[in-house]
Amino acid sequence: MTTVYTVDSIPGDGIGREVVPAAIRCIDEVARIEGFEVTWRERDWGSDRYLADGAMMPADGIDQLADGDGIFLGAVGQPGIPDHVTLWGLLIPIRRSFMQYVNLRPVRLLPGVEARVSGAEKLDAVVVRENVEGEYSEIGGRAYDGRPEGMAIQQSVFTHAGVSRVAEFAADLAVRRSGRLISATKSNGILHAMPFWDEVVEETVSRSGTVELESVLIDALAARVVLRPDSIDVIVASNLFGDILSDLLAAVAGSIGVAPSANLNPPREHPSMFEPVHGSAPDIAGKGIANPVGQMWAGALMLEHLGEEQAAKRLVIAFEAALADGIRTADLAGTASTLDFTEAVIERLRSAA
Ligand code: NAI
Ligand code: MG
Repeated sequence: MTTVYTVDSIPGDGIGREVVPAAIRCIDEVARIEGFEVTWRERDWGSDRYLADGAMMPADGIDQLADGDGIFLGAVGQPGIPDHVTLWGLLIPIRRSFMQYVNLRPVRLLPGVEARVSGAEKLDAVVVRENVEGEYSEIGGRAYDGRPEGMAIQQSVFTHAGVSRVAEFAADLAVRRSGRLISATKSNGILHAMPFWDEVVEETVSRSGTVELESVLIDALAARVVLRPDSIDVIVASNLFGDILSDLLAAVAGSIGVAPSANLNPPREHPSMFEPVHGSAPDIAGKGIANPVGQMWAGALMLEHLGEEQAAKRLVIAFEAALADGIRTADLAGTASTLDFTEAVIERLRSAA
């Protein structure tokens, strides 16, 4: 019997609606080659829905996703709607309801992509970002709005369980790679939360025995990403630090348009979610020129998570081959459209089958 996966696709806003269909075509093609099927449940959730109904997704949206095998997201965000409304109305509730506590962001220099800084030619790193607590918290408030006394307070939340499980995931990953793990910290300035982070990371990683752990202050680490990118393998970081570092690494690797991200629920009690690192790119939306590689690579991470490693490999090899052959979108100084690039990937999938 053919294996069938049920995946919810949420193209969302802007270029999400261009790169998600592009990646789905490629995933369907590898599925055909490898002999499995994906049933896509397309959700028209996002900013248009918010403007029409006042909510980014239906009230029972989370329940609708709960029995699926995965979630394939484009991006959310539209000019005219505050970004915290779109983010907290869809993305963050999914991450938190499904305990997707690991945000995995691999970065490496893809073939045919020019390195932006020297040393990036050999860049091959993974950011393991804490994804459900930390600096992105609902705890806090505002007072005296619009007056000189106006103020805002935002609390960070770091729990032993939250830090140790993400550190454990990162340590396991480091064991399978170089054996080296960098923890991003700021324990000199952030007086309570970051020394706690350091202690729990150290305690957790020491249990794995073989991993060599290096704690690096976030500001120095940011500089190191630019100055010595090849000295980095696996990074474990809090929600905010991981968010910033992964964009920085993606930029160093050539373009934010190629970077993927997996929001994982490692115990597999709930569906995991796969998306590119980039946003809805309103500046180029509707022009058909968005780079679909980040979305395709996110699709490969999803296939890997589903246990379809062979299919994941085929997809990565195909988009790398297209890039290596000089087929590139404008963000990589090429002239290919989203469609041209997608056709090129499908052609290579077919000829390699
Ligand atoms: P962005 O990633 O959408 O765009 C930044 C720059 O990179 C733009 O110049 C854009 O044209 C370019 N770019 C991004 N993806 C590209 C691709 N695939 N191909 C070619 N060029 C690409 O980030 P920005 O401008 O800060 O945010 C735009 C909107 O997206 C905002 O509303 C923001 O809140 C939202 N956003 C959503 C995210 C998500 O859904 N996970 C993540 C980041 C931003
Ligand atoms: Mg980000």
